[in-house]
Amino acid sequence: MNSSKGDIISVDILCGLNWGDEAKGKITGYLLTRNHYDYVCRWAGGNNAGHTIYVNGEKYKTHLIPCGIFYDVKCVIGPDCVINMEGFQQELDYLEHHGFDISLIKVSPKAHVVMDKHIEEDIMKYSSSQGSTGRGIAPCYKDKYARLGTRAGDVEFFAPYLWDEKLSGNILCEGAQGFWLDINYGNYPYVTSSTTLPYGACVLGFPIQKINRIIGATKIYDTRSGVDPLFPESLHDNETLAMIGKVGAEIGVTTGRGRKTNWLNLDKLIVACCVTGVSFVIVSKVDVLISVGVFKLFYQDALVEFGNIELMKDFIVDKLLERCEYVKTVSFSGSLEGL
Ligand code: IMP
Ligand code: MG
Repeated sequence: MNSSKGDIISVDILCGLNWGDEAKGKITGYLLTRNHYDYVCRWAGGNNAGHTIYVNGEKYKTHLIPCGIFYDVKCVIGPDCVINMEGFQQELDYLEHHGFDISLIKVSPKAHVVMDKHIEEDIMKYSSSQGSTGRGIAPCYKDKYARLGTRAGDVEFFAPYLWDEKLSGNILCEGAQGFWLDINYGNYPYVTSSTTLPYGACVLGFPIQKINRIIGATKIYDTRSGVDPLFPESLHDNETLAMIGKVGAEIGVTTGRGRKTNWLNLDKLIVACCVTGVSFVIVSKVDVLISVGVFKLFYQDALVEFGNIELMKDFIVDKLLERCEYVKTVSFSGSLEGL
C-alpha cells in the first residue's frame, strides 16, 4: 500500500494452531505489556471471533476490535476483514463506556460490510448445518468474491474510522480463529470463510521480509465450537473430557455454546506448526489438565497416556522440536519468558 521504504520496522504475527479459542487474547495482552507495538491489526474474519482479555484484573471481551485497544495502541481492522455496522458500534460503545480511547480504531476502506441480509442468510443456511456463529460471515465473503459486495469505504457510517492504509514502526498482527478453521486447511465445509494462516496477514500491506516472529497459540487439549464430524457430539458423553470442558470453562465467547472437548491431537498440531512456520509455540490451559489429573494426547493416531504433566509436556516439546523445522521454543502458560 502507501508505506514508503523503511517505515515498517518489524512485524510479529500471532496465530491460532487449533480451532480458535487458544487464548490468543491473553497472549496478545502478554505481548503488549512486554514489547512496544505501534499497531495491532486484525487481518481476517469479523465478529465471529471472541477475544477475552484481562487488563488490571478486569475481564474484557471483544469480537472485532483488536486487543491493542486495551493498551492504548492503534488498532486496524484490515482489508480482508468483514465488518457489521451494528456489531462495530456496540463494541465502540462498550469500549468507550469502559474508558478506552476509541479514536485509535481504524477500519480499512476495503473491508467488506456485513449487511442484515448476510446475517439472515447465515442463520437460515449455515448456523445449524455447519454451526456457524450466525454473524453473516460466509454470505458476506460470498458477495465479496462474487464482486458484488459493499466496502467500508463506500458507507458513510465508516467515514470517521477509515484507515489511511499506512503502517509504521512495530506491528502485531492478531489472528482470529485457528489453523483448522482455515478455508483451505480446515475440514471443509466445516470451516470459516477466511485465511487464518499467518501469510494472510500480509494483506495488511507489508512484505514478508518484515516478519520478525510468528507465534502460535495452542491449548493442551482440543476444543471445537460449531459442527464438525471430526468432533462428534458423543465427546460430550466422555466423563473425563466433559470434566476438562467444565473446569476449562469451554463456552463460546461469541455464541455461549458449550465446546466439544477432546485430547490434544499432536499430529494435527505438528501439521499446523509446520505449515505456519511458527517459531514460538505457546501451550495454554495446562492448569486445567493438572486439576483434572488425567494426561493424554493423540500421537500417530494412537492415544498415549502419561503418568504426570511433566512427562506430557516433555513429550510435546520433544515432538514439536523434532518434527517442525522452525519451532525454536515451546512455552507453557504461566512461563512465557522471552516473548
Ligand atoms: P463462521 O465463521 O461464523 O461462518 O463459523 C464457521 C465455523 O467456524 C463454525 O464451526 C464456528 O463455530 C467456527 N468459528 C468461527 N469463529 C470462531 C472463533 O472465533 N472461535 C471458535 N470457533 C469459531
Ligand atoms: Mg475465541
